[in-house]
Amino acid sequence: MSDKSEQKVETIENAGVTEFRETRGQRVKRHCVRRWWIYLIATLLVILAVVLGIIFGIIPKIAQDSVNDSTLQVDAIAITNPSNERFTLSMNSTAHSHAPVSAHFSPQTFEMYLPTTEGEQPVTFMTLSVGRLDIKDTLTINVSDVVTEILDKTAYDEFSTQVLNNEKLSLGIRSNPEVNVGSIKFKVDYQKTVELMGLNGLKGIELYNPEILDEPLEDGTNMITDGMIPNPSSFTLQVGDLTVDIAVGPQKLGWSVVKDLTLYPGDNKVKIYNHITPALLDVPIFVASLQAPNTNITLTANSTVFNGEHISWLEKPLHDAPPVIAVLNPQ
Ligand SMILES: *[C@@H]1O[C@H](CO)[C@@H](O)[C@H](O)[C@H]1NC(C)=O
Ligand SMILES: *[C@@H]1O[C@H](CO)[C@@H](O)[C@H](O)[C@H]1NC(C)=O
Ligand SMILES: *[C@@H]1O[C@H](CO)[C@@H](O)[C@H](O)[C@H]1NC(C)=O
Ligand SMILES: *[C@@H]1O[C@H](CO)[C@@H](O)[C@H](O)[C@H]1NC(C)=O
Ligand SMILES: *[C@@H]1O[C@H](CO)[C@@H](O)[C@H](O)[C@H]1NC(C)=O
Repeated sequence: MSDKSEQKVETIENAGVTEFRETRGQRVKRHCVRRWWIYLIATLLVILAVVLGIIFGIIPKIAQDSVNDSTLQVDAIAITNPSNERFTLSMNSTAHSHAPVSAHFSPQTFEMYLPTTEGEQPVTFMTLSVGRLDIKDTLTINVSDVVTEILDKTAYDEFSTQVLNNEKLSLGIRSNPEVNVGSIKFKVDYQKTVELMGLNGLKGIELYNPEILDEPLEDGTNMITDGMIPNPSSFTLQVGDLTVDIAVGPQKLGWSVVKDLTLYPGDNKVKIYNHITPALLDVPIFVASLQAPNTNITLTANSTVFNGEHISWLEKPLHDAPPVIAVLNPQ
């Protein structure tokens, strides 16, 4: 086998070289000297490839790793000026990361969605643009008063329902920011799920100081009460005029309005304008019962109106949720 191939090489060499003979080593050496610039270029290309590999391979990998390892915490979200198409969004958040080199993100857009189960595509219902961010170990990302379109009504309804009715919810945030390290730019995938507290169905409403008006107001209000609506979340939510039907057990009492309601984190003190069925106010037992301690009042949300518009993503979840039990004169 090996004999045969040697013979073949011999034959070719004999055929090609006729003028003078030299050893194989000499020929290779001569060739190298003549073509030295080819080897120089090849060496430079290898060095360049290694440098580019570091710049475009290793640095982006390190950056992606540190982006993956970073954490995001949403400190506060405000949803104001509600309408059925858009609202105003503010968000304060803090990112913790370990930045190995000095770098910054170009302006980017966060897409927000509800995390889905494996395999399902998440649906973005709102976006938030943030400006250039210098990457630091603790990074504050505060954005205020951005008019935000509702990109998918079904997904946003679901988000709003979870915000209003859940004790806790998860929000997905993703973007595809450009990282700038010196003059090198490359994209990374940013994707985080943050855990948020919801308003927990407005549980724990308290009512105080019922005052029957001798003269009903022009809008028909015949009783005013003070109220406290707890908001255990970090959401600020502008609701507008909230109307609820009120009852004690099976006995309907009428309906109540909280005007121009904005729920801030913590306890919200409000004035409640009640429209009690007038006949009840002539019943001495009913009037006396208003002073009794710990009476459970059933509240069923009827409508929310802001700027003359029913806001379906607030109204529907509030209306569809189980009635809220408010305690009159808690002790
Ligand atoms: C970063 O996390 C994403 C998922 O969020 C994953 O697909 C990717 O492989 C991770 N990249 C690195 C470099 O760890
Ligand atoms: C974000 O923080 C600023 C400064 O403390 C505050 O004025 C603003 O109300 C906060 N935003 C939200 C949505 O709570
Ligand atoms: C950003 O928001 C946080 C949390 O609400 C707040 O404490 C901080 O003061 C805000 N920073 C700026 C610059 O607005
Ligand atoms: C009021 O409602 C609470 C539950 O929300 C219940 O535990 C309590 O027994 C009720 N009180 C009365 C007097 O019905
Ligand atoms: C809401 O209130 C209006 C009048 O105030 C009433 O006609 C309607 O039946 C109420 N809707 C519900 C679901 O209670």
